[in-house]
Amino acid sequence: MASDQQSGNKKVCVVGGTGFVASHLVKQLLQKGYAVNTTVRHPDNPKKISHLSELQSLGDLKIFGADLTDEEKFDAPIAGCEIVFHVATPVNFASEDPENDMIKPAIQGVLNVLKACARSKSVKRVILTSSAAAVSLNTLEGTGLVMDESNWTDVEFLSTAKPPTWGYPASKALAEKAAWKFAEENHIDLITVIPTLMAGSSLTPDIPNSIGLAMSLITGDEFLINGLKGMQIVSGSISVTHVEDVCRAHVFLAEKESASGRYICCAHNTSVPELAKFLSNRYPQYKIPTEFEGCPSKAKLILSSEKLNKEGFSFKFGIEEIYDQTVEYFKSKGLLHN
Ligand SMILES: NC(=O)c1ccc[n+]([C@@H]2O[C@H](COP(=O)([O-])OP(=O)(O)OC[C@H]3O[C@@H](n4cnc5c(N)ncnc54)[C@H](OP(=O)(O)O)[C@@H]3O)[C@@H](O)[C@H]2O)c1
Repeated sequence: MASDQQSGNKKVCVVGGTGFVASHLVKQLLQKGYAVNTTVRHPDNPKKISHLSELQSLGDLKIFGADLTDEEKFDAPIAGCEIVFHVATPVNFASEDPENDMIKPAIQGVLNVLKACARSKSVKRVILTSSAAAVSLNTLEGTGLVMDESNWTDVEFLSTAKPPTWGYPASKALAEKAAWKFAEENHIDLITVIPTLMAGSSLTPDIPNSIGLAMSLITGDEFLINGLKGMQIVSGSISVTHVEDVCRAHVFLAEKESASGRYICCAHNTSVPELAKFLSNRYPQYKIPTEFEGCPSKAKLILSSEKLNKEGFSFKFGIEEIYDQTVEYFKSKGLLHN
């Protein structure tokens, strides 16, 4: 089996293996020689897990059933694992009841997974996938503000002002905070990875929402272009990272003994108007919009990956490679012409 680093046949668990990010993470872990247990919500639905089943040819991958709200279901997949990657989160941007659809299950899920880790005798480190949405949503004003790991999204502002899709960032910030509290009280070695909007290709049968959003200026999908503009207005920037770099950062931080705390993982910060300019220069064959009413030409803030870089991580993919690969992925799915 191909293994580019000594994993020593360690066993790890990935919570939420069917997802866009988690399935790439499972693949990278198997390629590095880890034995992987992964949890999915519907283990008996071949359509939901076909892309994971295919990864079983790469190495030792076992699939377990567990919903984030099931308190006891995580003991079996976590048994014997040294590292647990908690990637799953409820995502429902259209929800009319974000409290029950996203916030409560996200917090409950984090606590259920961490409780199982605390009960196990084997877990040495937990890597939680948080989000830039847990860092950068605030009422600060200006341009070029620098957000680092000391920044937290202002949940009070979100739950009062209720900007569109506010439940998702609120769920990410509150779940990460709950994880830190539980980890400190129970002496768990927790690391949180804070990625931005991700693009690249996906192993999942459906096109992930985040890739659709990142590609909206090229596909011309009005609804998603408005979503992208909303993202800049509410979160302060359009910050993009290749999904494979985000997964590499998860594995890097799991393996790096000196790592601790939160790590922002962001390859490129921009604004919608700047991104549109970049895309129309790089891909003149597509009709990229040029007018973005209400959307500032410059981003309010940048998300800094200085801490991750200082730890020794380097990004493989810049904005050019991220979009080149995502465009190729869309072509391969028949969603874009040449
Ligand atoms: N994609 C991005 O641009 C981005 C950016 C920043 C942070 N993140 C973070 O990265 C992580 C993965 O996101 P993603 O883009 O890969 O999302 P995704 O493709 O929607 O995957 C979400 C995963 O969570 C699982 N899940 C949802 N509710 C669950 C529940 N109640 N019980 C068990 N599993 C549940 C889903 O299972 P089913 O397959 O059964 O639905 C799926 O496997 C999340 O923590 C997200 O916040 C993503």
